[in-house]
Amino acid sequence: MTNPGSQTWSTSGIDLLLEPAKPGVRGLRARLEEGLREAIRSGRLVRGTSLPPTRGLARDLGVSRGTVLQVYAQLAAEGWIAARHGSGTVVAIGAEGYATSGALREPAPVRWRFDLRPGRPDASSFPRGAWLRAVRRALADAPDDAFGYGSENGQLDLRTELASYLARARGLRVTASDLLITTGFTQGLGLIARALAATGVTRVAMEEPSMPLHREIVRAAGHTLVHVPVDDEGAQVAGLERRRRVGAVVLTPNRQHPTGAVLSAARRARVLDWARASGAFVVEDDYDGEFRYDRHPLAPLQALDPGVVVYAGTASKTLAPGVRLGWLALPEPLRAPVAHQKALADWHNGAVDQLAFAELLRAGAYDRHIRQMRLRYRRRRDALIQVLKTAHPQLRIEGEAAGLNLLIPLGNAQTEAEAIAAAKLAGIGLDGLAGGGYYERDPAAGLIIGYAAAPEHAYSRAIEALAQSLRGRSA
Ligand SMILES: Cc1ncc(COP(=O)(O)O)c(C=O)c1O
Repeated sequence: MTNPGSQTWSTSGIDLLLEPAKPGVRGLRARLEEGLREAIRSGRLVRGTSLPPTRGLARDLGVSRGTVLQVYAQLAAEGWIAARHGSGTVVAIGAEGYATSGALREPAPVRWRFDLRPGRPDASSFPRGAWLRAVRRALADAPDDAFGYGSENGQLDLRTELASYLARARGLRVTASDLLITTGFTQGLGLIARALAATGVTRVAMEEPSMPLHREIVRAAGHTLVHVPVDDEGAQVAGLERRRRVGAVVLTPNRQHPTGAVLSAARRARVLDWARASGAFVVEDDYDGEFRYDRHPLAPLQALDPGVVVYAGTASKTLAPGVRLGWLALPEPLRAPVAHQKALADWHNGAVDQLAFAELLRAGAYDRHIRQMRLRYRRRRDALIQVLKTAHPQLRIEGEAAGLNLLIPLGNAQTEAEAIAAAKLAGIGLDGLAGGGYYERDPAAGLIIGYAAAPEHAYSRAIEALAQSLRGRSA
């Protein structure tokens, strides 16, 4: 940019956008001064922001360096900016503008003294070292093309590594071309729901209980929900046969969320028969299938019939939810419609994370991390059960064979609310079956306790505190 009246100052150091000087302000120097003052006054330039070096700014604006030096000197004399040793010229005062106060207005995230909330892995165990090595390696090795716009399906390199991992470790029948990379199950579900809606489907079945957010996503795509109740053999899928025009059912067959029930072999066969007979799809949400302790691994539904099952996986429990990486293995008829929805949503996932994850898989570091975490979570689960059973021998515990949570059924919603309030007083975060919004009709009551989220050093105190706070509460 070479015109001082224009809006953008693009400098060799930082980019600065200034409003055009007010019409009443005369003279080049005065217009530059007033433009800077206004940017600081409005809060767009916050205290501590570095200003461009005078030489670069003068060059970018097409003015003499002397003019810029005079502008800086004037604003420094007025106290707006100051020269800082080692960091050049910085904004010296704060303003009540949108930039500063906007950031401060956000509520601080709740920090639990003891975090026993379900569905969260131990973020303190994120494999930072392995991820760093993977990023470094990926950046060194990737061709330039990898950083351009790519396929909606995701990087081929990642899909190839992932397909071989999913076949080897999870038993899927999958190739790289069946896979589409998402930012997690949450995005994957939305893509599927919208793709189905675009092909004329209007009714989708979901488990009751299920995550409220997931129901909302499916409804937001325009579907009517059909509820599938859950018992201790998982979702009661036989009921689907009596329902008409249901285009898909969303299931957590390997560990029902949040009850922990496993879909029985008979029901697995039945839901696939239903899907084949009615031309519907089964969405298999395998959100924490990597974590099983005292039961044999179950073959995924997808392996029984890749033609009708959409398999959805995520790195949210194995690595961390903040990574935002997931994947879908899609039956052929859904590939193009779902890829189109991905393009409409955000075109494709970011390249660096995809390449790093591919490298993590290739190096075997993902497998090692999962094996390590499986042992750790198993130890934590055992310790939790022991502490609870010792303190409360009558307590019923369910859903403990796999996953990252267990369930303590309680008599009613009132008992649940009291137990959660007592835990909250002790600084313990956990979730309730009735209060957590998992049911839309006739909620059951119970505590859903996550044993993965707390950092290792705080865990034994957390479960002791929980046992203490449960005193006097009956199952
Ligand atoms: C049932 C269920 N499915 C999937 C997920 C994972 O969602 P995402 O991959 O978007 O993090 C969760 C996370 O809490 C979950 O509870």
